[in-house]
Amino acid sequence: MKKINITVAGAGSGYTPGILLTALNFPDELPVGEIRLYDIDEERLRDMETIMAYLLEKRQEDVKLIATVNPKLAFEGCDFAFTQIRAGGMEMRELDEKIPLKHGLVGQETCGLGGFAYGMRSMKSFKELVGYIQLYAPDAWILNYTNPESIISESVRRFFPEAKIICACDMTIGIEEIIEKSFGYDRKNFISQYYGLNHFGWYREIFDISRGKDILPEIIEKTIAEGYKVDEEELDWQHTWKFLEFLTGQFPSALPNNYLQYYLYPNKKVAEANPNYTRANEIMDGRLKKIKDTVAKIKENRDLDTIDYAGTGHGLYIVQIAISLLQNKNGRFMLIVPNKGAIPNLREDAVVEVPCYVNSRGVEPISLRFDIPDFHKGLMEAQVAAEKLLVDAFVEGSYQRAFEAFTLNQTVPNAEVAKIVLDEFIEANGDMWVDLKK
Ligand code: G6P
Ligand code: MN
Repeated sequence: MKKINITVAGAGSGYTPGILLTALNFPDELPVGEIRLYDIDEERLRDMETIMAYLLEKRQEDVKLIATVNPKLAFEGCDFAFTQIRAGGMEMRELDEKIPLKHGLVGQETCGLGGFAYGMRSMKSFKELVGYIQLYAPDAWILNYTNPESIISESVRRFFPEAKIICACDMTIGIEEIIEKSFGYDRKNFISQYYGLNHFGWYREIFDISRGKDILPEIIEKTIAEGYKVDEEELDWQHTWKFLEFLTGQFPSALPNNYLQYYLYPNKKVAEANPNYTRANEIMDGRLKKIKDTVAKIKENRDLDTIDYAGTGHGLYIVQIAISLLQNKNGRFMLIVPNKGAIPNLREDAVVEVPCYVNSRGVEPISLRFDIPDFHKGLMEAQVAAEKLLVDAFVEGSYQRAFEAFTLNQTVPNAEVAKIVLDEFIEANGDMWVDLKK
């Protein structure tokens, strides 16, 4: 089989080694020839180059490694672009979280007004990135997990309707993994029915092929009665899983995505947040420091046996999507796609997250063929409209559309605070946002 070249855009991310080492674990189905690391932040790029060169040598991989800030060198001749950029870096994530909190609103990376602020930056950088890929590698598949994904996906659709892009999020996998670990199932046996928007959806059925039935009712029962088992390495997420147990207890007719906590209980999320130390601070003090320490050790030739950059679960779904495309596997994944009737009673131009098959033709979304309940539909419609208004604001350069988007966001109680936060974000983001004309 022809060797495959993979470019990682946003390669400075701490997730890069895990994803790439996972990709190298399937030499028959995904024979990797070249790995190209691409980032606009040269310092972080060079750090990751040091780590990847070390790991490839340690594993004695026969793979060419290129690290570059030049998009032509990065994309020309690539077969897959794994895109995971974070416009503005962790420093701006910190502001996305802290500015709304200052005004008593949810401060989160992808939900609420922080997510919208990030969305405005992300759309701008991502548009430029996809432009490069269309120019230098128009036949490459873009496997995207850049956040906030619904907004990114909607904006790409407007600028590059023909782009070969698949938008995926690992959250549903995370939910299925906590279920299997907690209650002794094997998610390889699951056929899941899930619908929603990204970070905004519900399971309505989990058919277990080894039992020949839908096990979602018993999963919901156990979630409420027993709770999840969270192991050491998941301590960061312990609180999220506890909240999911509570959410499920309050609305037990379906299993919600954990991110709905921010829309349904913004008061609780604000009350428990520390406005001076948020998730961005945790990551700067954890994941980002770890990269620096690792690079320092490699440069001093110190032993690195303790480093846990083996293939990760996070990487596996991206790699499996790539393999499914290449090998026509018809794998089933939750993907973020134009609705077009997949959820029959939701507007057809929404970007939704539903199960899809992936094969040589690309993505084939599965029509759910049932109407979703009004409670979910109502929540989703407000969210879709708010996200579309934000994309309109970006496309038209319109302050008014941004103000409407911010006001409609379901974590926001009134238009007055929406405007105050919007104005602060405009100030804080400068030219990382497009100019919004009043
Ligand atoms: C999950 C979500 C991602 C999100 C990440 C946050 O994986 O699906 O969209 O970016 O969590 O993780 P972090 O450790 O950066 O807070
Ligand atoms: Mn996600």
